[in-house]
Amino acid sequence: MQRTPEPELMDAPDQVLAYAAADFEASDQAMVERLALRCAGDPGPRLLDLGCGPGNISFRLARRWPGARVLGIDGAPRMLAIARQRLAAEPELQPRLAFAEVSLPLPRPLPQASPLAAGFTALVSNSLLHHLHEPDGLWRAVAALAAPGAFVYLQDLRRPASPAAVEALVEREMQGAPAVLRREYHASLHAAFTPEEVRAQLDGAGLTALQVAPLQERYLEVWGRLA
Ligand SMILES: C[S@@+](CC[C@H](N)C(=O)[O-])C[C@H]1O[C@@H](n2cnc3c(N)ncnc32)[C@H](O)[C@@H]1O
Repeated sequence: MQRTPEPELMDAPDQVLAYAAADFEASDQAMVERLALRCAGDPGPRLLDLGCGPGNISFRLARRWPGARVLGIDGAPRMLAIARQRLAAEPELQPRLAFAEVSLPLPRPLPQASPLAAGFTALVSNSLLHHLHEPDGLWRAVAALAAPGAFVYLQDLRRPASPAAVEALVEREMQGAPAVLRREYHASLHAAFTPEEVRAQLDGAGLTALQVAPLQERYLEVWGRLA
């Protein structure tokens, strides 16, 4: 099945509210545990969550690694407003967790005042890649923002083989979900990449140290330590 891109940013009010209210707890926690396994428990002290949305993964990273500072970036102001509201309710995380409005691809050169200027020891992303019209923008950002020896971990949907397989997944996974989330999931499955396409993206960006593999029935994961 050919890829059909979907809109990049998620900033429509109904979309943002439905996403923030949805219960992704099990899959989000599994993602962070998978990262912990892949990086042998040590992502280092400076973590970047690319395409953080309302912060679902960023908060988990900050709680899981209490010695680390975490920055979540996203291009959607309404998503970030929710992330910051949530952060206001968790004062103990405030010294170590922050959010910034940044859209990919990054401007070159980065503005001097950018919160992204320093090297990150781990670059993490969940469900961003399939949104991107130019996926190279993500891989260039990973290469530019990583500290030497940084760990990279990304999870995303994997494109099913046929429209019928998409329909079956939507029916099974989105039973009882709000219509906006069902539509979103349907579009996302059509927009997702295959592991082979991601391999070509990584090679094209010179990120040959990173591995990509299918994960369970619906996902793919990218992981590895940069030189
Ligand atoms: C499906 S959400 C995932 C949010 C979060 N990572 C999570 O796991 O809950 C995808 C997010 O990527 C953001 N996004 C899409 N394209 C982007 C771009 N070009 N630059 C920055 N953020 C982008 C969207 O605004 C949205 O918040």
